[in-house]
Amino acid sequence: MQDPRPVPSLDVFARRKREGMPLVVVTAYDLSSALIGAAGGADALLVGDSLGMVMLGHETTLPVTLDDMVHHCRAVQRARPGVPVIADLPYGTFHVSPAETVRAGLRLVQEAGVHAVKLEGGRRRADMIAALLDAEIPVMGHLGLTPQSVNRLGGYRVQGRGAEAEARLLDDAAFLAQAGCFGLVLECVPAALAARVTAAIAIPTIGIGAGGGCDGQVLVFHDLLGLLPGPSPRFVKRYAELGRMGIAAVAAFAADVRERHFPTAEHSYGGGVPAVQGEDAQGESTGPAYPGGAAAGGEPSA
Ligand code: KIV
Repeated sequence: MQDPRPVPSLDVFARRKREGMPLVVVTAYDLSSALIGAAGGADALLVGDSLGMVMLGHETTLPVTLDDMVHHCRAVQRARPGVPVIADLPYGTFHVSPAETVRAGLRLVQEAGVHAVKLEGGRRRADMIAALLDAEIPVMGHLGLTPQSVNRLGGYRVQGRGAEAEARLLDDAAFLAQAGCFGLVLECVPAALAARVTAAIAIPTIGIGAGGGCDGQVLVFHDLLGLLPGPSPRFVKRYAELGRMGIAAVAAFAADVRERHFPTAEHSYGGGVPAVQGEDAQGESTGPAYPGGAAAGGEPSA
């Protein structure tokens, strides 16, 4: 059956900048993160190559492949989040030639259904950006701390410090806006510089570690939910501690199992108790309120 909802539009980016209403972007990597991000009210979802670190356990984003991105983008799109989905072009896919870049972008659009791609870098990616736009693939830019440049940058450091670096960033931002990008991520740059960039260009800036003067903000799903152990960078605000909650939940499950407190009749079949949450007294399934609420695949019929 056709989805009756309108196709998510990237127009939200220009509209929010016009209205002066901050854009909210959250990363998503699979069905559950996409459902949560969209239900939480994000204006757009970014399938960031940060998935290499938070989902796949790599130390950097460099090992992420195009196949990885396609795999995760498809899972995000299966959530039918109803908002635009933007995918990172992973390292190596937009460095060789415009033709290879377009082929990578086409895979993300055609096989994974994303609405746009993001790529790191400014002027030096001019040919790749032009080729993507020529192939009808909308492009988001990414300046400042570009994690794919970690080896050249010598680590994850604040960028745009000093007159020369500031001028380069302003020039690259103006270039990306002029080139036709619909938005620009600014990562780990001084707040005053990000505000200058935001005022200087016609497309919205989406900050991460770039202060409150941007047109919007993006956070990594795992960071904002506190899913992973260890300290967070200064620019992260943890809105929940789901990692700790998860550990406590698994520990409670383990204790219940070991003490034979789970399962009870309530979670067992037979004995006159309605079989599952979401079933009425006649045993008719009313369906899970939240996809995935009935453990993968829903209620078995037997
Ligand atoms: O990969 C990613 O998640 C990103 C955001 C941090 C902007 O690029």
